[in-house]
Amino acid sequence: MNLFRRKKIADLHSEILTDHGLKRALGPVNLTALGIGAIIGAGIFVLTGQAAAKYAGPAIVYSFILAGIACALAGLCYAEFSAMIPVSGSAYTYGYATLGELIAWIIGWDLILEYLFAASTVAVGWSGYVVSFLKDLGIVIPPEFTSAPYNHVTPEGAGWNIWRLFTEGWVSTGAVLNVPAMVIVGFVTLLLVIGITESATFNNVIVAIKLTVILAFVGIGLAYINRENWDPFVPPALGAGQFGWEGVLRAAGVIFFAYIGFDAVSTAAQEARNAQRDMPIGILGSLAVCTVLYIAVSLVLTGVVNYKELNVPDPIAVAINALGDGLKWLRPIVKIGAIAGLSSVILVMMLGQPRIFYAMSKDGLLPPVFSQVHQRFRTPWAATVLTGSVAMAVAGLFPIGLLGELVSIGTLLAFAIVCAGVFVLRFTDPQIHRPFRTPAFWLVSPLGVLFCLWLMYGLPPDTWARLLVWMALGLVIYFFYGRRHSKVQRQAAENSNGPAR
Ligand code: ALA
Repeated sequence: MNLFRRKKIADLHSEILTDHGLKRALGPVNLTALGIGAIIGAGIFVLTGQAAAKYAGPAIVYSFILAGIACALAGLCYAEFSAMIPVSGSAYTYGYATLGELIAWIIGWDLILEYLFAASTVAVGWSGYVVSFLKDLGIVIPPEFTSAPYNHVTPEGAGWNIWRLFTEGWVSTGAVLNVPAMVIVGFVTLLLVIGITESATFNNVIVAIKLTVILAFVGIGLAYINRENWDPFVPPALGAGQFGWEGVLRAAGVIFFAYIGFDAVSTAAQEARNAQRDMPIGILGSLAVCTVLYIAVSLVLTGVVNYKELNVPDPIAVAINALGDGLKWLRPIVKIGAIAGLSSVILVMMLGQPRIFYAMSKDGLLPPVFSQVHQRFRTPWAATVLTGSVAMAVAGLFPIGLLGELVSIGTLLAFAIVCAGVFVLRFTDPQIHRPFRTPAFWLVSPLGVLFCLWLMYGLPPDTWARLLVWMALGLVIYFFYGRRHSKVQRQAAENSNGPAR
């Protein structure tokens, strides 16, 4: 059995033509809104302030530019693939077509870390904003029901001992469960089962709200910038990734999380009306809009408040406070914008995950239940409910920091493989029609791989330990189930006339 057997692009194209399960309802505006819906969330509303205060100061602007470049490299590669192979499996399917089944499985399993865990991570951030907003209204939820029962501290002297990093260092926080985080995941799951059109409309409304809030913040804040807050723009280094150029790089790794999500557009490829044209528009358009907004927000944020005051869970609200009492009315509006913004990230992430399960199940690597489509709603309902249940449990049990780093490492790995895949396929299958071609692929693809690996390298050993344990679990499942039920393997065995690739 050849574990690196590839799925033929021609087979993928005929699958697209014959699979009428999912509803083709999304146009370029919906797809771009899906991207923006997935991107703008906890990264800008929570992490920016912390990264500026701890690592980069006003130079967080440069960190956003750096992380934006890494994402643009990956985004260009995603755009080529998603127009060429517009199927719901995203990076998993691209991997299947280029690097073979085992790598495809690894990406598919790894993408769970991105989508499912990102939904949980952002749900925890959502819970924080909702609790604070309700408190402003005089409604207090008991703290034991608003945070995770466990936290993790790196066990002393564990070094790179994966087992110790994974099993030791868990501490009880005294809380019971993060109930609001679970509630929002449950609500989004229901919405996603009901329908793609309903979900896209809900997303469009939310995206409009969060863009208005961000533009209002930038527009009003510009008039209040105090240039002294930008002096020095790159604060002098204090050592170990704190400030100076090293700090800019460290902050780029942290705020990379803010960009995650543009790739989720590609998981809706089978629900796009004209995927070949609109996938690149959705992916690159949403990434471009968000990059510009992030740079503007971080300039205003560090211009109106000194970066040292930004190490808080709600930095944008703190900046609004600094604008004076006359603008106090803006504060609840910003919170509502953040709550709305975080909801749509959860929505798009939870839209992406079941569609990857759907593709893996269609290929036989996961049980058939994962590709069941609801007769009336035409959504992958079983996979959606399963994703929702697991995401709910994770959101209820674990803290945001731990989850966020796992999401970053999982996403970076997927990006690196996609960038490599574009490069490989240009040589192995140069003749395939590519409606969108990554410009200067010989430079963009390898740079994309290197950039992602470098950002992964900067993540802490605990996160690596979790990634490795997660991957080991995935391989066990593949060898016990996926490999035996793989349709590509079965076809190759049946087709004794010539070796399948
Ligand atoms: N980019 C998404 C966020 O910042 C994951 O919430």
